[in-house]
Amino acid sequence: MGSQTWAVLLCVALFMVSGAMGAAPRRPVAVPFGRNYVPTWAFDHIKYYNGGSQIELHLDKYTGTGFQSKGSYLFGHFSMDIKLVPGDSAGTVTAFYLSSQNSEHDEIDFEFLGNRSGQPYILQTNVFTGGQGNREQRIYLWFDPAKTFHRYSVLWNMYQIVFFVDDVPIRVFKNSKDLGVRFPFNQPMKMYSSLWNADDWATRGGLEKTDWSKAPFVAAYRGFHIDGCEASVEAKFCATQGRRWWDQKEFQDLDGLQYRRLQWVRQRFTIYNYCTDRSRFPTMPPECRRDRDA
Ligand SMILES: *[C@@H]1O[C@H](CO)[C@@H](O)[C@H](O)[C@H]1NC(C)=O
Repeated sequence: MGSQTWAVLLCVALFMVSGAMGAAPRRPVAVPFGRNYVPTWAFDHIKYYNGGSQIELHLDKYTGTGFQSKGSYLFGHFSMDIKLVPGDSAGTVTAFYLSSQNSEHDEIDFEFLGNRSGQPYILQTNVFTGGQGNREQRIYLWFDPAKTFHRYSVLWNMYQIVFFVDDVPIRVFKNSKDLGVRFPFNQPMKMYSSLWNADDWATRGGLEKTDWSKAPFVAAYRGFHIDGCEASVEAKFCATQGRRWWDQKEFQDLDGLQYRRLQWVRQRFTIYNYCTDRSRFPTMPPECRRDRDA
């Protein structure tokens, strides 16, 4: 057989193996900040290293800062390696999220709530559809997120939104259109990230105040990976819908191992889940039927 045939066979074999093993998203490719992102505000509070392959956001008592993707996207895989503010980070919030720009907006959020030295960060996630949020889940992490870089990513397709921490799915928001719940599908979103002071609510409900003598507070970023269907802000659909890797069968649901990992996070690290908050929601929000199955 010629080498071309071998190459084809190898590709088929690899494809079958990866298919059988299920649905870990493609490995992100690290690119410099400027490839996919631009600063949004307080430009002088962003520091660049190694040609922009790593950046820092600085928060002081004058201002926080943030950046956003150049493009807007309908579906895809978005990931960032982040090292959160070390030491006394109480009152600070570092966020990494997707959001559409209109009034009835869609949003997919990671928010890291800082804490006093030695106390654990909280990771809060939320999903807004058509302007409606109130879907908070909060967990502790199984590592110190301020010590080294960890990867936080979102896989978003027509079937599900999955939040990953490294390779562990920590949350799945299934498309529950059949249950009457809106799902983000027709409003392109941009990626945003920011570091700001939220000591009015973030740490123990606003009881812990930011200690400005510890400023500047610094969060570091690298990775800057975006693999999405780029669309104009007004687009209603993705031109290549159904044909991209994240649309394929193995990304339409979690596999067995991923569900087991999700369960592990659920059982060991959950602080709060809106789906089980009966004082706030006497009747369970419809999509929570799928959250419970998770
Ligand atoms: C901070 O630490 C306290 C005490 O361990 C804990 O109750 C709280 O959940 C932690 N996180 C935040 C963001 O307040």
